[in-house]
Amino acid sequence: MNKIAEIFTSLDYGPAPESPDLALAWLAAHENRFGHFIDGKWTKPGKTFASENPATGKKLADVTDGTAEDVDAAVKAARAAFPKWSALSGYERGKYLYAIARLIQKHSRLFAVLETMDNGKPIRESRDVDIPLVARHFYHHAGWAQHRDREFPDHVPYGVCGQIIPWNFPLLMLAWKIAPALAAGNTVVLKPAEFTSLTALLFAEICEKAHLPRGVVNIVTGEGDTGAAITGHPDIDKIAFTGSTEVGKIIRKATAGTGKGLSLELGGKSPYIVFDDADIDSAIEGLVDAIWFNQGQVCCAGSRLLVQESIEDRFLEKLKKRMSTLRVGDPLDKAVDIGALVAPVQVARVTDLVKKGVAEGGQLYEPDIDIPGGGCFLKPTLISHVSPANTVASEEIFGPVLVEMSFRTPEEAVALANNTRYGLAATIWTENVNLALDIAPKLKAGVVWINSTNNFDAAVGFGGYKESGFGREGGKEGMASYLKPKWEKELKPFKATAAATASSRPRNPLEDSTPPGVDQTAKMYIGGKQARPDSGYSRPVHGPSGALVGEVGDGNRKDIRNAVEAARAALGWATTSAHNRAQILYFLAENLEYRAEEFAARIKAQTGEDGAAEVAASVERLFAFAGWADKYDGAVHNPPQRMVATAMVEALGAMAILAPPSRPLLGSIALVAPALAMGNTVVLVPSEKSPLSMTDFYQVLETSDVPAGVLNIVTGESRVLAKTLAEHDGIDAIWFAGDAETSKMVEAASAGNVKQTWTSRGLYYDLADKLKFEGDYFLRRATQVKNVWIPYGA
Ligand code: NAI
Ligand code: MG
Repeated sequence: MNKIAEIFTSLDYGPAPESPDLALAWLAAHENRFGHFIDGKWTKPGKTFASENPATGKKLADVTDGTAEDVDAAVKAARAAFPKWSALSGYERGKYLYAIARLIQKHSRLFAVLETMDNGKPIRESRDVDIPLVARHFYHHAGWAQHRDREFPDHVPYGVCGQIIPWNFPLLMLAWKIAPALAAGNTVVLKPAEFTSLTALLFAEICEKAHLPRGVVNIVTGEGDTGAAITGHPDIDKIAFTGSTEVGKIIRKATAGTGKGLSLELGGKSPYIVFDDADIDSAIEGLVDAIWFNQGQVCCAGSRLLVQESIEDRFLEKLKKRMSTLRVGDPLDKAVDIGALVAPVQVARVTDLVKKGVAEGGQLYEPDIDIPGGGCFLKPTLISHVSPANTVASEEIFGPVLVEMSFRTPEEAVALANNTRYGLAATIWTENVNLALDIAPKLKAGVVWINSTNNFDAAVGFGGYKESGFGREGGKEGMASYLKPKWEKELKPFKATAAATASSRPRNPLEDSTPPGVDQTAKMYIGGKQARPDSGYSRPVHGPSGALVGEVGDGNRKDIRNAVEAARAALGWATTSAHNRAQILYFLAENLEYRAEEFAARIKAQTGEDGAAEVAASVERLFAFAGWADKYDGAVHNPPQRMVATAMVEALGAMAILAPPSRPLLGSIALVAPALAMGNTVVLVPSEKSPLSMTDFYQVLETSDVPAGVLNIVTGESRVLAKTLAEHDGIDAIWFAGDAETSKMVEAASAGNVKQTWTSRGLYYDLADKLKFEGDYFLRRATQVKNVWIPYGA
């Protein structure tokens, strides 16, 4: 063996420790005890709990367990600061964000060391990934502050934002929350996770140094109940949460009916797909990053390895070899790959799940490497050959544990990849660009990385599909989630006219006899066919004077089930070309216009109102969204990495739409048209009081080439059907236009599979208003953005 080769085999790492001294000195300067940062001042520490270093088990500091009173004081401070802060020019707000970015860079090593000590992540990561991304986030949003009014005309900030973050990227998650909130003009109350409060407290000092006006940023430390005091606080206008899906669902329910804005960034079980033509060595390095970065405590960790069967053995062999070279150790050592998990409770949780995975048939591999004793250390772990039914194939482990299974064909890879309740991220490795770009849109995930993994940038939105949550952080979408249309703050309660109010008295099913001229009960419209209601009951439809004008079926749970099935079977609608969808919507408009007189008469019969105007507005609205179908699209971002990120606007899936009581035709069309234009399929419940315009609409649908199942219509009692739809796991999003109480119920029931919701909460949305509703308001709510990262260059 020549000398160099020999050195390579015998080469060992010496220690390369980063000094903790300055971080310890900072803690000592605070006597290792912290209160909250409220209204620009530090409160006296109250009842405290310890923040520990998980690598040593040693206490670093005591932090205060925030009470409901503390939260209230912080909210009051944020409320008081809001008018002045939001009235500053974007340029002025931007300068504060810029100052914060500069100060973070200036103190970057202190932040990195403190983060590593409090969280256990390797210094290499906190120094080279977390903190630089934090600074980048504030720089990026300094620009958004200045350009807000140009890019979001007629939008205003929510007000006071309550922000709750997890422990895996303590400062980075703080930046993702605070930077866009401030750029948009909001003030904030933020609670760091109980395991990792320290960098948030250091950040509070940065706010002081940047002379941020008092009350704009308030940091309240504490545990889950402190978080609950934030989400339950009546004077908070928007909640942004990152953390477990379980707590995300609790927060969804807690905020139901309150009108608070909500964004949720939750768990994941992201697939890492390796095709047989991949550059295997690169794919292995990517995998190291995907699952052992931050000890696997990453919401978008590539924790499910899917390998094409033909290379499975070879790939696993190489992977095991690579795992045996990973170094687990003192996180402050600059040559360590894997540090400590955040806390003993997480070690226990991960260890239990590994046992379970093996008991259920997975094959365990742990490399024969040393790990330090005494701290929260675990070896990098592989559980291979798991079946899809294995607990570890579906549960988020949130530790250094990779789970592997194989596939044969690209179709099978997609099916396995999507076989999860989550949808945060996905990674694809193949040298075949056609294959990669074919697979990326088929994956139900908010972020897709091609031949790379774990790329993040402030300019590129991040967030989930399905139970991984909704809302995006970063990019323009991220900014949008901290703003709302000005007019939405000024809406008035909906005053139901007699014409739009369904009778609430118990109904005698035989009380109405079929009126003259009405010879049949309108059926449901499901899967492109008229279908008899399952219940065998019908509901009378009365005109304004109380006269019977027709009858419709009384839809029930089974009708909804059939309609949802039909809507899901038609999801291919999203992949028909936008041009095609536009043509079909134009055709619908045209065919509706042919029958304008008949539809006008029907509207008048049901409501007594001017039917002709409503039909004309409905035709125009269909035209408007036909026009949008091929225009409301994405962007191409240029993050600092040598990559492009294409932000693709995608449909949500199968949507439930419950139309408002008023405007029997336009009320449905105004909501259905944007949903269909963007590629969603729909289960529509038309106006409960005046459903006949939409049951007449079947014939228009049948003559307009709308594929079967794309629009399904179930008539019946709105409140009852809303509940069934909100609880249905086959529905991806639900819109409800109606009373406040039902809106609240819909939002709470939507937590089951974390549906996106839009509800009118008893407020009057004048859907005839073209300026407000012919454009992006509903388009944005009918879509989600997927960012596909594509590397370039050889
Ligand atoms: P968690 O979801 O309980 O904690 C996240 C944040 O929510 C913390 O600040 C916590 O204090 C707060 N919180 C807890 N209960 C709350 C409530 N009822 N109302 C308002 N805020 C509340 O996560 P935890 O317990 O730290 O970790 C448990 C598991 O969750 C992990 O093992 C992991 O699987 C998952 N997780 C996922 C994350 C992700 O980014 N996807 C981040 C953190 C945890
Ligand atoms: Mg800690």
